[in-house]
Amino acid sequence: MASTQEERAIAAYNEHLGRFDKDLPRLSTVDLDEIEELAQRKLYSSYAAFTYVSGSAGKGLTHKANRAAFEKWQIIPRMLVNATHRDLATTIFGVTYPSPLILGPVGSSPTARAAAKLNVPFTLSTAGSRSIEDVATASANGPRWFQLYWPRSDDITLSLLKRAADNGYSALVVTLDTMQIGWRPEDLKFGYLPFIHGVGSQVGFSDPVFMARHGLPIVHERPAFPYEPEDLENPGGQSDNPPAFDDALRARKVLAFSWIAEMSSGTYRSWDDVPLIRNNWHGPLIFKGIQSAEDAERAIDVGADGIVVSNHGGRQVDGAIGSLDALELVMRSTRVREAQASGKFTILFDSGIRTGPDILKAVALGAQALVVPYVYGLALDGEAGVEAVVKYLLADLSLSMGLSGYKSLDDVRSTLASNMIRKT
Ligand SMILES: Cc1cc2nc3c(=O)[nH]c(=O)nc-3n(C[C@H](O)[C@H](O)[C@H](O)COP(=O)(O)O)c2cc1C
Repeated sequence: MASTQEERAIAAYNEHLGRFDKDLPRLSTVDLDEIEELAQRKLYSSYAAFTYVSGSAGKGLTHKANRAAFEKWQIIPRMLVNATHRDLATTIFGVTYPSPLILGPVGSSPTARAAAKLNVPFTLSTAGSRSIEDVATASANGPRWFQLYWPRSDDITLSLLKRAADNGYSALVVTLDTMQIGWRPEDLKFGYLPFIHGVGSQVGFSDPVFMARHGLPIVHERPAFPYEPEDLENPGGQSDNPPAFDDALRARKVLAFSWIAEMSSGTYRSWDDVPLIRNNWHGPLIFKGIQSAEDAERAIDVGADGIVVSNHGGRQVDGAIGSLDALELVMRSTRVREAQASGKFTILFDSGIRTGPDILKAVALGAQALVVPYVYGLALDGEAGVEAVVKYLLADLSLSMGLSGYKSLDDVRSTLASNMIRKT
C-alpha cells in the first residue's frame, strides 16, 4: 500500500514538474537532501565513497554554518507583480546564459555533457578523473571553465594553463582555499584516498611536462566509478599478485604521489605570486574560496575578474563563517560594490545551496551566479541525474521568484537587499 501511495505522490510531483519541462528526468524526489540519501543507498557497498563526497572538515561546523546562514535570512514576498513569465538569464564575463547556475569542479564527462545540453558552464577540476582534452571533447560546444589547484612547479602550472586555453576553456578558476586538503575525519577513518591510486590524477597523467619529468608518454585514462581500492590492489580478488603486477602498481603509486605533491603540495601561495597566473592567462580569472571583504579587495588589486565566495562546502576550515554570511560581509565593501557595478568584477557564490529560495537569497545579497551541487544526481543517474538536479533547482527558483514578486533576476539584482530579505 505504502509503495502505491508513494508512487502516486511521485506521479503528482512529476505532473507538476512536467509543466516546467515535459522531458524532465526523474529521480523520484526533487528534494536535494533526499537525493543525497538515495545516492547514499545506491553507494551502500562503497560507503567510503559516499562519505568522501558528503564529508566535512572536523566536526562539520562550517557545513552547519552554511545551512544556518541560509535559514537566518528570510524573503519578504511582494504581491500583484505580473510575474507570469520569468527570466533567469544571466550575463557573466560577457556571455549571456539562460540561468545563473554553474557546475562546479566535481565530476566528469557525463557532467560535461549535461552542462553542454543545459548551456551551463562546466568547470573541470585539476583533480578530475578525465583529461582536459577528453572533457573538452565531451563538452563539445558547451561552455567550459578550468579550475586550478595551483601546482608546486611553475612549468606544470603554465602547461595546464596552455592546455586549458588551447582546448576552449574560457575562464580560469583558481581555488585558494585548498593549498592542502583539510582535516577530514571520515576520509581518514576509511582511508579513502583515490589519489594515491592515481584516480583523480588524469589531468596530471595527460600532462606532457609532468610525464616528461618521469620519462613517460602522456595517457588519457578513464577510470571507472566508483573507485574501488581493493580491486586496484587485488584484481579478481587475488591475494598474491604476480610480481610484475606489484611492480606496475608500485610504479603507478610513485607517479600518483608525485602528482599529489604537485597539486596538493602544502606550498602556500601569496598575493605576490599571482602575476605568474595573471600574466599567462588571458581570459577571465576567478579566485575561488574568498570569505572576507579584505581578500575580495585584494583580488581586485591583483587584477582578478571575479571571485567565488565559498568555503568549499565546509570541507576545509572547521568552524568557519557560513558562506552566505561571508557574502554579506564581502558586499559591505564599497570598493567591491563599485567594481561589480562597473562590470569589471563578478561575484559568484557557493556552499550550502540546496533550494531555489537559497539561490534567490544569494542573488539578493549580491551574487551574480551560483556554483551548485549536483554530484548526488550524477551518482544516481549519470548525465540525466545532473540534468535533473539542475532543472529542479531552476524550477524551484523560478516558482519562488514569481511567488515573491520578481519577473527576472535583473529585478532581484536591482532591488535593494534590505527591501527583499531580512536577517533574523
Ligand atoms: C566530492 C567533491 C569534490 C570537490 N572537488 C573540488 C575541486 O576539485 N576543486 C574545487 O575547487 N572545489 C571542489 N569541491 C568544492 C565544490 O566546488 C564547492 O565549493 C562545494 O561543494 C560547495 O559546497 P556545497 O557542496 O555545500 O554546495 C568539491 C566538492 C565535493 C563535494
